[in-house]
Amino acid sequence: MRIRTAAFLLAAAHLVSALPVRNVSSYDNMPHGMPYPSDKQLKMIEEYAHGTLPNGPPPPGISEPGITNLKLVAFNELFEVAFFNELITNITEKVPGYRFSSEDDLDYVLRSLRTILAQEELHALDANNALDNVGIEPIEPCHYKFPVDNFDAAILLASTFTDVVLGTLQDVVERFAMNGDFGLSREVSSIVGQEGEQQGWFRIMQGKVPSELPFLTTSDLNFAFTAIQSFVVPGTCPNIDSIPLKTFQPLDIITTPTARTANISFAFAHSHHTNDTRLWMTYINQQNLPIVEPLQVVENEGDDIVAKALFPYDTHEMNGLTIAAVTPTKGPFPNAWSVANETLAGPGLIIVN
Ligand SMILES: *[C@@H]1O[C@H](CO)[C@@H](O)[C@H](O)[C@H]1NC(C)=O
Ligand SMILES: *[C@@H]1O[C@H](CO)[C@@H](O)[C@H](O)[C@H]1NC(C)=O
Ligand SMILES: *[C@@H]1O[C@H](CO)[C@@H](O)[C@H](O)[C@H]1NC(C)=O
Ligand SMILES: *[C@@H]1O[C@H](CO)[C@@H](O)[C@H](O)[C@H]1NC(C)=O
Ligand SMILES: *[C@@H]1O[C@H](CO)[C@@H](O)[C@H](O)[C@H]1NC(C)=O
Repeated sequence: MRIRTAAFLLAAAHLVSALPVRNVSSYDNMPHGMPYPSDKQLKMIEEYAHGTLPNGPPPPGISEPGITNLKLVAFNELFEVAFFNELITNITEKVPGYRFSSEDDLDYVLRSLRTILAQEELHALDANNALDNVGIEPIEPCHYKFPVDNFDAAILLASTFTDVVLGTLQDVVERFAMNGDFGLSREVSSIVGQEGEQQGWFRIMQGKVPSELPFLTTSDLNFAFTAIQSFVVPGTCPNIDSIPLKTFQPLDIITTPTARTANISFAFAHSHHTNDTRLWMTYINQQNLPIVEPLQVVENEGDDIVAKALFPYDTHEMNGLTIAAVTPTKGPFPNAWSVANETLAGPGLIIVN
């Protein structure tokens, strides 16, 4: 792994002693008593997070769509808590692939990740508290599995899901706004910036410039809901059924696109696909209108389809996150919602540069 800038290693803030290890009972992959920490555990989480939960009164009422927003945010943040907790464990236990040659790097990375973990814990608690405050059952964590076995892959994964979160929180803010939940939009905006700070660091560690795009790619709650579930052990989420969002068929990207226009291959399932079904690959990138390309099926075995479509990098400067979705029409789609509304398989997550 590469830590690019030595200056980053200088930030020797005060060291807090390690938080006590989790209580391995019902939430055996959750640290620090999450999702129901004791007062004492919360105090320690806040110390690690370098700050506190907001202490103003939560809004007395929240719209139905606003509640769905908070459920998705809690569902996502709990997944992130599990991820960063496991990453820290892998590093501290010196699992192969997670070892550092420099003690300074190790120290700085662990301090940063412990801070991020605690900050994510507070994000999860904040969303669940807001639900609880209006009499809605908080979202419970699941069991998770992560498709990575080394530090570099873990950081790439973190940067991918953080990109999806950064896009999805835009959707959260817009849905709050449309439903009069203005009491929640300022706080979510503060989280958007916070996640962006994390992302800058993940990008630096990959040797990328810290800031990804002038206008970050947008997303939709339903895409995030589907993407997070790819890290969930099926059947282990106690109350996922209370989240009224769509789960799409998965879309695998076979050829990883680079910074050039090319045909790329995708795999997905599409039941009852017939010879004359026409499908499109729709791309969401930055704050631009979705881009639609015809999809050419190259293999069709049962429901399993391999198809290719143009990734028109050059025409649209398609850097940063692109969300790909198979749609049965070519739109035109005015926004990400309308794409999610017609998605057959997705989201495929592409990050260029
Ligand atoms: C974990 O918490 C449960 C109840 O919350 C308690 O009964 C149990 O003794 C705790 N286990 C450990 C290892 O602390
Ligand atoms: C931690 O290491 C194990 C063993 O290599 C791996 O299966 C798991 O995905 C890793 N988790 C993270 C978050 O890196
Ligand atoms: C992509 O595939 C189409 C159809 O096979 C072909 O006409 C086009 O030239 C290809 N484009 C690129 C950039 O390879
Ligand atoms: C697909 O459609 C073409 C005509 O468009 C036809 O010639 C061909 O036999 C069909 N293939 C299958 C597998 O149905
Ligand atoms: C969702 O898609 C249906 C057709 O499948 C369409 O009638 C409806 O207007 C779409 N809604 C939005 C918000 O795009």
